[in-house]
Amino acid sequence: MVTEPPHQIRDAVRDHPHYDRGGHAMQILTVDKKFLWITEAFREAWLRPWGSKLKHLKYRLLWELRPFFKDHGKAPLAVDIEFANECNLRCTMCQQSTNWWNKKINAVVSWDTLKSVVRQCKDMGVYSMKVNWRGESTLDPECAEKIKYIKDQGIHEVQMNTNATKLDDVLSYKLIDSGLDRIYFFL
Ligand SMILES: C[S@@+](CC[C@H](N)C(=O)[O-])C[C@H]1O[C@@H](n2cnc3c(N)ncnc32)[C@H](O)[C@@H]1O
Ligand code: SF4
Repeated sequence: MVTEPPHQIRDAVRDHPHYDRGGHAMQILTVDKKFLWITEAFREAWLRPWGSKLKHLKYRLLWELRPFFKDHGKAPLAVDIEFANECNLRCTMCQQSTNWWNKKINAVVSWDTLKSVVRQCKDMGVYSMKVNWRGESTLDPECAEKIKYIKDQGIHEVQMNTNATKLDDVLSYKLIDSGLDRIYFFL
C-alpha cells in the first residue's frame, strides 16, 4: 500500500529549491519556486572560484532552461558512472535488497572504463558527473583518486551520493582533497 507522507513533510520537500526539477513535479512548480531555484543558481555560482562562476551559472540555469524550451542540447548536462555496483546496506526500497540484483557480479569500475567514459563526456561537453547509480561508491578503494581524475580532466562538477557508513576521517579528507563538489547523504 502506498501512503502519502504527512503534509508538513510533503510541503517542506516541495518548497525546497532542488525538489525534483527534472521530473513530473516540474509541472507543478509555481513561479515563486522557480524563482527560488534560480536564486539558488546565482548563489552557488557566486560561491565558486572566479574562473568558474559564469560556467557554473550557465550550467545551473540550463537545468531550468532546457526543459522549459524542450531542448535536450548537444550532450546531457550530467552523466552517472557507477564506481561500485555493490553496497554494504540493504535498504528495503533499493534494488540492492533484491535477490535479482544480488545475482550480479560485484565490481568496481576499471580505470580503462573510467578514462574512456570521462573522455567521451569531456568531448561532448558534459558539465557534471555523479559517481554512483545503485551502488555505494565509497566501497571502491580508489574512489577519491578516481574523483580527482575526473576533476583533473576538466569535468565542471563531480557529485556523489553515499550512505556515509565508510566516511572515516581518512576517507573524508581524501574526498575533500579530491575536488568533489557535491555530496548527498542518504541515511
Ligand atoms: C541507490 S542510492 C546509491 C548511493 C548510496 N548508496 C546512497 O544510498 O546514497 C542513490 C539514491 O537512490 C535512492 N533509491 C534507492 N532505491 C530507490 C528506488 N527504488 N527508486 C528510486 N530511488 C531509490 C536512495 O534513497 C538514494 O537516495
Ligand atoms: S545505501 Fe544506497 S545503495 Fe545501499 S541499499 Fe541503501 S539506498 Fe541502496
